[in-house]
Amino acid sequence: MKILVDGRITAEEMSRQMKEISISEFFEKNRHLLGYENATKALITIVKEAVDNSLDACDEAGILPDIKVELKQVGIKSFKMDFEDNGPGIVESKVPLAFGKMLFGSKFHRLRQSRGTQGIGISGALLYSQLTTGKNAKVSSSTGDKIHEFEMMIDTIKNEPRIVSHATQSNKDRWHGIKIEIEAEGNYVERYQSVPEYLKQTAIANPHAHIVYKGPNGTLKFDRVVNKLPEQPKEIKPHPYGIEFGILRRMLSTTRSKNIKGFLMKDFSRVGSRSVSQILRLAKIESKRKPSSIDHAETSRLHKAMQMVKLIAPPTDCLSPLTENLIVNGLKKEIDAEFFVAVTRPPTVYRGNPFQVEVGLAYGGSLNPNTSAHLYRFANKVPLLYHQKGCALAQSVEEVDWRRYGLQQSGGMPIGPMTILIHFASVWVPFTSEGKQAIANYPEIVKEIKLALQDAGRKLSKFVSQKRRAKQRQMRRKLFERYIPEVAESLGKLTGRDEKIITQKLEEAMKKDKEISMIAEETVKEKEDKEEKTAKEPTKPEEETESMPSENEE
Ligand SMILES: Nc1ncnc2c1ncn2[C@@H]1O[C@H](COP(=O)(O)OP(=O)(O)OP(=O)(O)O)[C@@H](O)[C@H]1O
Ligand SMILES: [Mg+2]
Repeated sequence: MKILVDGRITAEEMSRQMKEISISEFFEKNRHLLGYENATKALITIVKEAVDNSLDACDEAGILPDIKVELKQVGIKSFKMDFEDNGPGIVESKVPLAFGKMLFGSKFHRLRQSRGTQGIGISGALLYSQLTTGKNAKVSSSTGDKIHEFEMMIDTIKNEPRIVSHATQSNKDRWHGIKIEIEAEGNYVERYQSVPEYLKQTAIANPHAHIVYKGPNGTLKFDRVVNKLPEQPKEIKPHPYGIEFGILRRMLSTTRSKNIKGFLMKDFSRVGSRSVSQILRLAKIESKRKPSSIDHAETSRLHKAMQMVKLIAPPTDCLSPLTENLIVNGLKKEIDAEFFVAVTRPPTVYRGNPFQVEVGLAYGGSLNPNTSAHLYRFANKVPLLYHQKGCALAQSVEEVDWRRYGLQQSGGMPIGPMTILIHFASVWVPFTSEGKQAIANYPEIVKEIKLALQDAGRKLSKFVSQKRRAKQRQMRRKLFERYIPEVAESLGKLTGRDEKIITQKLEEAMKKDKEISMIAEETVKEKEDKEEKTAKEPTKPEEETESMPSENEE
């Protein structure tokens, strides 16, 4: 290295030192970005990446998932982890790339709700494994024909898989799916943020999955409670309203469409021939122009025109919500509470990406009345166990005034016997980092979650006030019951009647009062339910999310 007399190096020397950085090498240094900053979280992240992939693959292939997870301690800090699914498997040529190359996957380039998107989840797990133990990973795959067994590592300098061995086995049972065996450094716990907790919450959001977990402390089985696959989300094209300038420019240079009219109609959703004419008129571009010939100024005009024309909101069949019924049943299965309610909001958009928010509340029963409400967060049916503080889902809960719904709150989470479930479903989940644990605070997202929580809160407050009324009545009755002997004695003295008969009559009257109040309680509840069905609850106008201008023009 050429160093000048005063210790500085020359620009030429600096330039000589510049070189490309491979993505694997980057994450080798920054494994915390993928969720591997500590040994406890590392085990959960590996399980999460493998199980999310199995669920995605099974859902896409229309297979009811059967997933096995095994975790064995093999050293002071090392664990052997085995995964198996009954999904479609991966074809032989793509197995090493799917597991041994970062930013390689089938989900990044499409607009469709799925658990994974980035193409770094499972290769990140293999990278962490080889970093901490230096051992090869074993991956077996079959699409129903032969079983391909790979022993492999990741060449981090090249970001390429390094195949150590490849064997082919016969497959009499025509098994299909993926098996993964890896060893990694970790720390095993069984508290709130843990592998069993992650699997429990996964089972709540995926009742169609059967998951068997063999851990260091025994076996846990999460049975399939729904024998039907959820409605499969469809892939959509981007909507003109959310497209950013740079992306539009890239799309113009890479499209297969021969002219700009075809480009707008084929590469975007909700653009019909009428809207194309309007857009091109506003942008002053001829419909026959070649997309790649559109210059910077024209792209700018086109971009503006695309936002000005009225279009139907993006299609929402690209989303797969949990549904209110499933949320209530999932919560009932896991939580011993008295009252359950769920709200699924209609789909809407942020940055042109369709998304949908769902919330569920479980209240009362064995839940602790003196602690902060417990929050279950889900993004595309995946539980989020870390970084609650920086997550839009938690922020929205804190921004709701829960005192209006009968709970206590002193800034922050509500206090009371309550569990809150929030599910955020979108074709693109705006995670705050590659570790996929917290959702970014887009105002449109926070607004939607608050509306869902307020709606559920109103339903909860009815239950809470009914309960309070019933409790007050019961206390009054108990108080009176305690004084029956004294009242009977006084009345006996005053009227000269038999004290025993007076006691008996008073007790009968109390019993009748109890029956009457039960009937009254049921009637009030029925009336309230009826009112709720017929009248849609009013929402504060400033709180309502603005929907896209819609026009049935196509
Ligand atoms: N169990 C599996 N069955 C079938 N295909 C799988 C399985 N696991 C991984 N794949 C394939 O390998 C690819 C890479 O997986 P990886 O987890 O790295 O990325 P991803 O799931 O696409 O996105 P993310 O980084 O967000 O998890 C997936 O896109 C999928 O095509
Ligand atoms: Mg993945």
